[in-house]
Amino acid sequence: MSDRTPLVAANWKLHKTRSETEEFLDWFVPRAGEVDGVELVVCPPATALATAAERCTGSPVRVAAQNMHQEPVGAFTGEVSAGMLVDAGAWGTILGHSERRQLFCETDEALAAKVPAALEAGLVPILCVGETEAQRDGGQTGEVLHTQVEADLARVDVERLGGVVIAYEPVWAIGTGRTATVEQATEAIELIRDLLAARDASAAEGIRILYGGSVKPDNASELMEPAAIDGALVGGASLEADDFFAICAAAAR
Ligand code: PGA
Repeated sequence: MSDRTPLVAANWKLHKTRSETEEFLDWFVPRAGEVDGVELVVCPPATALATAAERCTGSPVRVAAQNMHQEPVGAFTGEVSAGMLVDAGAWGTILGHSERRQLFCETDEALAAKVPAALEAGLVPILCVGETEAQRDGGQTGEVLHTQVEADLARVDVERLGGVVIAYEPVWAIGTGRTATVEQATEAIELIRDLLAARDASAAEGIRILYGGSVKPDNASELMEPAAIDGALVGGASLEADDFFAICAAAAR
């Protein structure tokens, strides 16, 4: 058994206005106390971050962003820095989501700067890694995870490594309704933990590694059952408060 506190995060992507965020949290926050021993996180779009953070103050629910820029200030039109996220009340930020890698040219080089910049600002990075279907079919899953973990965490000091959360998200399982099998998820997550242990064994033991990709209320228990899987990053099924609550409750069991 691990001592790691499970974590379940709602990745709302390009969904929810401020009033929709409030509506969700009005339902969810009063019930969050019923989910014992699980860290609960919602990741609204940037425009709703401060609203969500205010609504979650004094509750166990944490608020995280979906992306950030690595520089603190500068001529980077359209970007938001770690300090700005902290100012908006964020606890953490997703980094390296596959949609950002695939649709917005996010590189491992940028992530190598973003992860330590987030930590430096006091944000918990939720770093997403995972292979495409072609890479899995080509037997390259291990190699892809190795490259992403090594590159994206290259500039994180060993003392800070334990503060990172990783989400293993096979790209072929995101938004497709197809999940990894429990065996596939466990195998990938154990590989990621082994890669981290090569840096520092005790930090690796403390890092939460989540599974993400078509987690739903009806498969959440099974997917979070293995001791190796420390929770879930949930997209589509996190948009309805009662569905997300059911997934959070599954993590508590
Ligand atoms: P999904 O998305 O749950 O809709 O598959 C997961 C994610 O993109 O983090």
